[in-house]
Amino acid sequence: MVRLGRVAVGGVVVEDPDLPLGELLPQAEPQDWVFEVDGKAWPYRERAVVMLHKPAGHECSLKPRHHPSVMSLLPTPLRLRGLQPIGRLDEDTTGLLLLTDDGELNHRLTSPKWHAPKVYQVSCRHAWVADATQRLLDGVVLDDDPQAVQALAVQALEEAQAHTVLLTLGEGRYHQVKRMVAAVGNRVDALHRLRMGTLDLDPKLAPGQWRWLTPEEESALRASVRLD
Ligand code: URA
Repeated sequence: MVRLGRVAVGGVVVEDPDLPLGELLPQAEPQDWVFEVDGKAWPYRERAVVMLHKPAGHECSLKPRHHPSVMSLLPTPLRLRGLQPIGRLDEDTTGLLLLTDDGELNHRLTSPKWHAPKVYQVSCRHAWVADATQRLLDGVVLDDDPQAVQALAVQALEEAQAHTVLLTLGEGRYHQVKRMVAAVGNRVDALHRLRMGTLDLDPKLAPGQWRWLTPEEESALRASVRLD
């Protein structure tokens, strides 16, 4: 992009990718460098943390097999700096997905020790029964581990014959929501993540759209894993 003349720094188009920026901007500190890519401001960020409203039909893998990767939804400059999803959502799951190029932050947020709640809106095939709520709160055993997994909270959204449930989990195992719901005799028709730890999915983001975390959001996220 630099060689194609698409990048400017401090208002000057730079065509040499090896030019030391410290020479071009001797007075400025890196955090004050303002790049422009195709005329759009692109402030310097030491580390990138973004939220994406993941649409259905996208895989979180960097080497997708059947559907495009979520990475295809990000602009080239972000893809080139090696962002990776923080944990995974299934191909058909929608909602809040965080991505970062900060390996330590990613590692801590995906560690089984991080119990920050994740809230999912679950559309179920069959009407939700009160007994299912109690069973999920008590804990159900999944096929890959004799240790029961519990929901932190379960809330049916409609008063009678509810088909939509808010499910809060403190961990993130493979297909965990789908398997827990199956364990109580129901079936997930659609799954949408609304919240991860301190962060809510921004309602202004349409499916497929992304945005940077605000400095406050990023600080709260880092503080939640003691990375301030
Ligand atoms: N649980 C699932 O079953 N799928 C997801 O995508 C996320 C949580």
